[in-house]
Amino acid sequence: MSSQLTETIPSNVQTAILEEAVYLNPDVVRIRLRLKSGNGRLIYSAGQYLALHILESQFRCYSMVHDYEPDKPLELHVRLYPGGLFSEWIRQRANSKLLSSNIPVELRLSGPYGQCIWKSPCLPGATTVMLATGTGIAPIWALLEQALPTSSGHVILYWGGQVPQDLYHSGPLRGLEKAFPHFHFVPVMRDPIPGWTGRVGTVEQCAASDHPELRQSRVYACGSPSMVQAAAALLIKNCGLDEDHFHADPFEHPVSSQKAPSEDPTLNLFVRTPQGREEKVHARTGISLMTALSESGHTQGICGGRAACGNCRVKLGNHRALLLVEQTKSERRLLASFEDALPEHRLSCQIALTRELDELRVEISTPSL
Ligand code: FES
Repeated sequence: MSSQLTETIPSNVQTAILEEAVYLNPDVVRIRLRLKSGNGRLIYSAGQYLALHILESQFRCYSMVHDYEPDKPLELHVRLYPGGLFSEWIRQRANSKLLSSNIPVELRLSGPYGQCIWKSPCLPGATTVMLATGTGIAPIWALLEQALPTSSGHVILYWGGQVPQDLYHSGPLRGLEKAFPHFHFVPVMRDPIPGWTGRVGTVEQCAASDHPELRQSRVYACGSPSMVQAAAALLIKNCGLDEDHFHADPFEHPVSSQKAPSEDPTLNLFVRTPQGREEKVHARTGISLMTALSESGHTQGICGGRAACGNCRVKLGNHRALLLVEQTKSERRLLASFEDALPEHRLSCQIALTRELDELRVEISTPSL
């Protein structure tokens, strides 16, 4: 994992051609993208995601469904939201002749990002549990493709939806069950539905009741943040799952200062750009350092400040007030995954600006997207 982020972040914006956009159900479109020739390549681990940049400052993140192979298109599953900027863009192109015209439809993308990647089982033969909701099945499928041919223990996937149509990839999952007898797919409906004879409840409840003992297991969870948070809480507390064996992209909240605004609610930052330029940035207190850097056009986070992408990493100068800004476990883990990690590195999304940080020196290691 460590090399993926370090090698891709410095020059990670690439152009791709949209080759296909096909509905998998009324709310989900499968898109296939091919990197433009001469654009370089992706260094990817199964389970990671890409950011698609629609406008200069707007992007959306989607997980890749398969391992990256240079001569094959990238596949992503896009959930459509009514009125969503990218959703509408995709809707206009899905199943349309636009893609077969001679004018290529181009998209900019960056990444891969994310830390929810396959790890060897804790013990040979130990059970692995996977949880997914919605398009969270995309990274889970990528993990299964990597894990099943080599793992010997049982791998059990719980995939949840509101209606059977939500489980749009059930056919291929049943195919995997036939190919790999140690893999089991458990479809789950959130609430009882007429005619549904399968499991009912949340995916984490089903997993907890089937596997009350998860001390030697790993759990992978991809999907809605509420499911990921509930699953971590339930399986760690009730099933003895080791916190370090719960794998999901973290959902730390973007920070903001808890302090009451001071009389002068501004401060100065001294920013050194990747090109070596020194700039003075005037910033408000109460926002995150990432927001201040983004507003001044310097750097931009991809994961919305959740300590999950590393794109907002900066090197900070010595400043006494920084001692008071503790690192979360997610931040520590992500920073440690960079091969060139330094003690001075921090995720700017995790630092709330206060007056005490006036004159902080910030060195940016990633270019603005
Ligand atoms: S914005 Fe993604 S880690 Fe900070």
